[in-house]
Amino acid sequence: WATMEDDIAAIWRLKAERNAVILAHNYQTPEIFHGVADIVGDSLALAREAVRVDADVIVLAGVHFMAETAKLLNPEKTVLVPDLRAGCSLAESITAADVRQLKADNPGVPVVTYVNTSAAVKAESDICCTSGNAKAVIESLGTDRVIMIPDEHLAANIARDAGVEVITWPGRCEVHDRFTAADIEQVRRDHEGVLVMAHPECPPDVVAASDMAGSTAQMLAHVAHQRPKRVALITECSMSDNIAAEIRDVEMIRPCNLCPHMKRNSLANIRAALEGMQHEVTIDPDVADRARAAVDRMLAIS
Ligand code: 13P
Ligand code: SF4
Repeated sequence: WATMEDDIAAIWRLKAERNAVILAHNYQTPEIFHGVADIVGDSLALAREAVRVDADVIVLAGVHFMAETAKLLNPEKTVLVPDLRAGCSLAESITAADVRQLKADNPGVPVVTYVNTSAAVKAESDICCTSGNAKAVIESLGTDRVIMIPDEHLAANIARDAGVEVITWPGRCEVHDRFTAADIEQVRRDHEGVLVMAHPECPPDVVAASDMAGSTAQMLAHVAHQRPKRVALITECSMSDNIAAEIRDVEMIRPCNLCPHMKRNSLANIRAALEGMQHEVTIDPDVADRARAAVDRMLAIS
C-alpha cells in the first residue's frame, strides 16, 4: 500500500495536473493541514478564500456544508469532497420546512443562519454567520430580536455578548456539546496557569468557565501571537495537533473530542478524489441563488 510520502507526492502532482487547490479546515489532521493543503482556516476564511480561488477544481477537506458554500460561491468550478458522508450534526438538525415554520411563527424577525447548514436552509435565511463573525452579523441588523439557528449553544453565547433576544432551534454540535464545566475545573486543577479557550458551540456554562471563546481561527491566532505557556483548546483534537506541529514553545493540554465527520478525510481519499474527480458537489438550482445571497450578505459585512 501507499506510504504517507507516496500519497503526499501524488496529491501535489495531481493538483498541478488538474489545476486544483485543496481548502482544508482547521480540524484536518496534520498530514492534511501541513502536508497537502493550499489554504487552511475556519469556516469564514474558507468561504472568503473560496471567492478568490484561481483554479478549475477545489477539493474541500472539511465537511459537506463547507463544500456546498465553496460551490455556491464558485458555480462554474468543480468542487470535490473526499467522502460524501462527511456531514455535521448541526446541518442535519434542521430542514428548510423548519425554517419556513419559524418565520411563519415569528413574522418580521430576521433569520440569521449558521453556515453549518444545508444550502436549502441557507436559502430560507436573511443572512448567514460563522462563529467568527456572529456578533458582527447580528449587530449589523440593528434589531434587538433575531431568529438564530440551528445551534442553541452558539445562539445563547452570542445573544449574551450582543445583548439581543434570540429565538433559536434545538441543534447541537455533537463534538462540543460533550464538554462540561467540570472538565474545565479539572484542567485548571491539573495544569496551573493554563489558558482555556472554548469554541462557542460549547454549552454556555463551558464558555463562562473559559478565559475566552472564539472560532478555530481566532483560537489559533491568539496562541500564535500571545504565546501563552500552556493552553487548553476546548474543541476538536486536531486543533491542538496542528498548533503543536508548528509552535513548539506552547504546551498544548488536551481534553479534546474528535469530530467523526471531519475525520472521514484522509490522504488516501483526497488522492482518490483527485485521481477519479470524485465526489462532485452540486446544488439544486432552485435554492442556489437564494442561498448565495445569504452568504454574500455575510461576506459583505464581515
Ligand atoms: P469554525 O468556523 O470556528 O472553524 O468552526 C467550524 C466548525 O465546524 C466547528 O465545529
Ligand atoms: Fe459539525 Fe461539530 Fe463536526 Fe463542526 S465539529 S463539523 S459543528 S459536528
